[in-house]
Amino acid sequence: MTQTASPWFAPASAIPSSWLYESFRIANEREREHPGQIKLHVGEPAFGPPDSVAKEFAAAVQEGRARYIDVQGLPELRERLADKLDTVNRVDTEPARLFVTPGSCQGLSALMRCLAGSGAEILMPEIHWPVHLQQALLAGFRPVFYKLDEHFAPDPESIRRAAGPATRVLLLNTPANPTGAVSGLPLQQTLYEIADERGWQIISDEAYEDFAFSGPHLSIAALERDRPASQRIVNSVFTFSKGPAMTGYRLGYVAVSRPETAAAMRSVQESCIIAPNAPVQYAGLAALDASAALAHNHDFVRGNRDAALPSLVDEGLLPALPGGGWYAMADISCTGMTGEEFSAELMLRHDVVVVPGSGFSARPEFAADGTMRPLKPGGVASGLVRIAFCVEREQLVTGVELLVALVREKRQR
Ligand SMILES: Cc1ncc(COP(=O)(O)O)c(C=O)c1O
Repeated sequence: MTQTASPWFAPASAIPSSWLYESFRIANEREREHPGQIKLHVGEPAFGPPDSVAKEFAAAVQEGRARYIDVQGLPELRERLADKLDTVNRVDTEPARLFVTPGSCQGLSALMRCLAGSGAEILMPEIHWPVHLQQALLAGFRPVFYKLDEHFAPDPESIRRAAGPATRVLLLNTPANPTGAVSGLPLQQTLYEIADERGWQIISDEAYEDFAFSGPHLSIAALERDRPASQRIVNSVFTFSKGPAMTGYRLGYVAVSRPETAAAMRSVQESCIIAPNAPVQYAGLAALDASAALAHNHDFVRGNRDAALPSLVDEGLLPALPGGGWYAMADISCTGMTGEEFSAELMLRHDVVVVPGSGFSARPEFAADGTMRPLKPGGVASGLVRIAFCVEREQLVTGVELLVALVREKRQR
């Protein structure tokens, strides 16, 4: 009897779309029959990009500047970004180690592909942005999770304990999505020392750099600005989606640590994108000239936080106001409900949409032969829900009031 080979399946099919998209899908479906939802689930800000951004984008298209360019991005944009990193972030880099990317999401994915290797482990926060987990798995990393403290900051002891001989990368994200936690200088110094002692690379996702509310944002790469590039360990990732609100333009950038990582990035990027979109980069140059918008947007989101979130702290649902970012994770476990149950009831009864926490703490499981079991939501954030506070203020205040009212109604302790 001839043996039929088992059909090949793509390992990526074990990695589902993130549960963020599931929340978007459910809310969009309901919106058709129940318009007027209060949308606290999407990180789409109430403000838009500066006017000059659209003008410059259109001019670049109309003037024939939409052509293939260097795989790393427009030289003039990379020059400007190197200056910005030096003066604003205190990060020393050079255009040769800078990559302009279609959103920072693609930059993160490409970077993970450069840093992954057979059996390599990446250390990630136990409550994380689910796209980081997708990216790590698709790059071929084995994710290992470190604990967060009561304010959702990385716990260095847990990082030391979780690490093993196969650890290659430490993923950090400050200000963090979904928790809003901000890592201060002493913590960043400790994390840097651990990674450096053990020979790891760091991926520092700084998408929310313009939204640190208790002092200037600190880039961990600033700690190694005086080291030669060949010894550096920090790869920093930034975006135009948050500060200047260019969410749909898809523009980000990555400053890689070492020349050899830059060489690997060039190959990965050539194979994935050939080159980033050219008109969007001219729009990015315009955004860099409109820095007043950053201060305005920072103040707006901070004002939202201060207007709406103190009631969550008073109610015992948040340990403190988030130190930065666009999101807060409210602990609704006092209701005896899961995040899914609570979010569903909040949407069905009050038309307020939030995201259940379980999608932010999923833990992949692997069979003995190394294949991954289908990824499911669950874990430490199952009793939490994520609230986006970058949205229109009145909506946010009303949505949070309705959430608190539902918690009071259901509270069991
Ligand atoms: C932590 C974090 N990193 C990166 C991104 C990606 O942003 P973009 O691809 O729009 O630059 C997001 C978007 O929500 C995010 O929350």
